[in-house]
Amino acid sequence: MVRELFDSIAKRYDLTNRLISLGLDRLWRRKACEEVLKSLEVRERPLKILDVACGTGDMMLCMRKRLEKRNLSGEFYGLDCSEEMLRIARRKVPFARLSVGTAEEMPYPDGSFDIVSVAFGLRNFSDREKAIEELHRVLKPGGRLVILEFSKNPSLLGKMAWLYTRTVVPIIGKLTTGNGKAYEHLVNSIDAFPSPEELRGEFEERGFRAKGLRWLFPRIAFILVLERH
Ligand SMILES: C[S@@+](CC[C@H](N)C(=O)[O-])C[C@H]1O[C@@H](n2cnc3c(N)ncnc32)[C@H](O)[C@@H]1O
Repeated sequence: MVRELFDSIAKRYDLTNRLISLGLDRLWRRKACEEVLKSLEVRERPLKILDVACGTGDMMLCMRKRLEKRNLSGEFYGLDCSEEMLRIARRKVPFARLSVGTAEEMPYPDGSFDIVSVAFGLRNFSDREKAIEELHRVLKPGGRLVILEFSKNPSLLGKMAWLYTRTVVPIIGKLTTGNGKAYEHLVNSIDAFPSPEELRGEFEERGFRAKGLRWLFPRIAFILVLERH
């Protein structure tokens, strides 16, 4: 169901992201990349980096820019269950090795990566517990995981951002992709998602140590950085 949903919106996914987030999604990804790089002491180069639920590849583009700014280099791997999203990623991130697959069963050996990112993907996973175990398995000990995700925040700003998301986002999504249902799914999945603190607990129970949790303006998205034990 999730794969079909993302296949159907893939062509207009990037444009819709820019519109519904008023351009903020790029800033959020940049902050996530900066936070995870700040938390990592680099011993080996190039860094091996996996982006899970990579979609059209924006997170990898962003990470490569942030690495260049630090005179670092990376070997990039991207995984996604939607062929159509990956078709677009192939054009945008030709430097990355892209695979079709699921977060719940990843096609990589144990301890492969220095950094793993999941941007706006976790909410969609059908079995989050299994995906967390897989994220732990494919990371090197001491490696970093960065999660970028939506959640509801009880502050006034957070409540206003949630109201905008609930009411305006499905309308823009319907106008740009023709699939209003997909953007209703976005709203429903945010509503059903645990708080960042609860999510942090889920990771800590499964072999991760939290390195940082931070809300992003306007308090509808957050970054969670974790270290794999
Ligand atoms: C909201 S998009 C995020 C894409 C990208 N990370 C970004 O920042 O724009 C969610 C992506 O997760 C993928 N996805 C959903 N469930 C998945 C799963 N179980 N395993 C792998 N990819 C999945 C979808 O195909 C989609 O491309």
